[in-house]
Amino acid sequence: MSKYWKIIPIGLIVIFAFIATAIISIKGSILQTEEEIDTIFIKRCAGCHGTDGVPTIPDVPDFTDPKFQNSHTDEELIKSITNGKDPRMPAYGEILEKEQIQALVPYIRKLVKKEEKKAARKTTKKG
Ligand code: HEC
Repeated sequence: MSKYWKIIPIGLIVIFAFIATAIISIKGSILQTEEEIDTIFIKRCAGCHGTDGVPTIPDVPDFTDPKFQNSHTDEELIKSITNGKDPRMPAYGEILEKEQIQALVPYIRKLVKKEEKKAARKTTKKG
C-alpha cells in the first residue's frame, strides 16, 4: 500500500506538466495567428484600406467608422473578402485560407475600437 502513496504525487506532477504544456502551446498558436493576420492585412489589404483601416484611395469603406461596422454582418464581410466586390475590391477566396478570411473579420472589427480609443484620448487632452 505504501508504494502507491509515492506514485500519486509523481502522477500529479506529470498531469500538471502535461496541462501546462498544452496551455502554453495553445497560447503560442493564438499569438502566431494574430501576427499572421496582421501581416496579411498590411501586405494585401493596407494598400487600399490603410494600415489602420482608414482608406488610402477613394470609394473604399472606412473600417474605423462605426456606421460601416454596424451596417455589415460578419457573414457579409466574409462574403465580400472571399468573392470580392465590384469594381475594385479583389476576391481573396483563391488566395487566402478560409480560416485566414474568417480571422480577418475580428481584425477589421478591432480597427474601429482603436479609433474610438484615440478619439477618447484626444478629448481628454483637450478638456
Ligand atoms: C485594390 C484595392 C483593395 C484591396 C487590395 C483590398 N480592398 Fe477591400 N475594398 C476595396 C474597395 C474599392 C471596396 C469597396 C467596394 C464597394 O463597396 O463597392 C472594398 C471593400 C471591402 C470590404 C467591405 C465589403 C462590403 O461588404 O461592403 C471589406 C470587408 C474589405 N474590403 C476587406 C478587404 C480585405 C480583408 C482585404 C485584404 C485581404 C482587402 N479588402 C483588400 C478595395 C480593396
